[in-house]
Amino acid sequence: MLEFKRLTVRPKEVAASLIIVGVFEERMLTSAAAELDTASDGLLKRLMESGDITGRLGATALLHQLAGLSAPRVLVVGLGEQRKFDAARFLRANREAHKALKGLPVEAVASYLTEVEVPKKDIAWKLTQSALAADYAAYKYTATLKARAERVELREVHFSAASYDGDALDRASGIAAGVRLARELGNLPPNICNPAYLADQAHELSRRYPDIGVEVLERAEMETLGMGALLAVSAGSENAPKLVVMDYKGGSGKPYVFVGKGITFDTGGIDIKPAAGMEEMKFDMCGAASVFGLMEAVARLKLPIRVVGITPAVENMPDGKSYRPSDVLKTMAGHQVEVLNTDAEGRLILCDALTYSLRYDPHTLIDIATLTGACVVALGSHATGLMSHDDELANELLAAGETTMDRAWRLPLWEDYQSQLETGYADFANLGGKYAGAITAGCFLSRFTEGQRWAHLDIAGSAWDAGRKGTATGRPVALMVQWLMGQK
Ligand code: BES
Ligand code: MN
Ligand code: ZN
Repeated sequence: MLEFKRLTVRPKEVAASLIIVGVFEERMLTSAAAELDTASDGLLKRLMESGDITGRLGATALLHQLAGLSAPRVLVVGLGEQRKFDAARFLRANREAHKALKGLPVEAVASYLTEVEVPKKDIAWKLTQSALAADYAAYKYTATLKARAERVELREVHFSAASYDGDALDRASGIAAGVRLARELGNLPPNICNPAYLADQAHELSRRYPDIGVEVLERAEMETLGMGALLAVSAGSENAPKLVVMDYKGGSGKPYVFVGKGITFDTGGIDIKPAAGMEEMKFDMCGAASVFGLMEAVARLKLPIRVVGITPAVENMPDGKSYRPSDVLKTMAGHQVEVLNTDAEGRLILCDALTYSLRYDPHTLIDIATLTGACVVALGSHATGLMSHDDELANELLAAGETTMDRAWRLPLWEDYQSQLETGYADFANLGGKYAGAITAGCFLSRFTEGQRWAHLDIAGSAWDAGRKGTATGRPVALMVQWLMGQK
């Protein structure tokens, strides 16, 4: 984790190993850049004339040994056109600046980007978001890599904020820790991060944060409770299922309950997935990972509320013991469900976990899941899919996503879609047909949350970046923490 500090001196006096300043396109210097320009006898302006510094959004230039400065390096980052500058571009510039730091032998950097005006945002927002962007860029997966020779690593980031002394940077530290945990759990390979590993991690969290209590339900208890859907999904795996419950008691009101899909690997089961891209299905526990991250953030920030995190951790494998297409499963809620595709397993473990969660009498119930490829088709990777019957809750979550730029977009959960789940062999099926797959998955879950103040977040597109070097994003930890911070 990076350490964040507030910076109150001008660029000229900064002792850090690198200074970050911004410039707009059209050769517009920000005030910190102008100060450096003056100190260095007009160097920045000359480099803009020559085209070495363009000011294009996210473009960076690294300058060494500027005259008149104690800091040995300056990183100039482009902010794009000034009239288009907004919150999203502010974050983009921050991200690119921190990406450009990778591999540099710098231990502490000083950023003046927080001085740039962002429409409708105050200094607290700029500090929190800049710090999160910095920590996001600084995270490196190393768990299964050979140890590299010791190098200088970035440890501290100082943000210019002369006349501010609130807790924005402490808040950022709490959120960043949660995002990191979610990313790390997501990135770990499925032969390490299996259901038992997730259960161990919950105990580990509880050891580090005594305000978090942990309970792990084993297969025998699930059988007693009648969790026929969750157990069917786990049947083909040698890794026993675990239902992990984390209970943070920071307040005495009704709890905010979060249920995260924890499929530690999704082969599809008997309806096996194609080989190409199957390795990405190690990320199918990112909903659970986000709940772990949320618990850590909430405990660090000592939020004065009760938060319960429930993660069904299960592996979906093909085997002689696997459940099959056309099986009819009896859920804990008593509904009979016909399996039309064993690859629609997320909703089957979630429905029993959601039913179990009702014993906590939730103030609000939120599930988070890498649930459908259809959601990725609809929204791509930029937005999490949000479904809820409760407009007030939906709007609160959308706003929290907007604030943290961990954005969600709402899809309808109209009654009209429910009929797509009808079947002749059970109360309903686990599949809604070809169209509106993200919504019919939401409809399936809605049948287990009736009467609750409930929202469903489909993070299939937002939870990780695709590709060989794809990495978990830790979304939507920031959205959820932001929303909880606004609750009394
Ligand atoms: N984990 C997948 C969803 C998924 C797919 C997430 C691709 C991210 C990228 C889920 O379990 C699944 O397989 N869903 C099926 C449902 C279908 C069989 C109704 C899907 O989306 O294809
Ligand atoms: Mn699946
Ligand atoms: Zn899945």
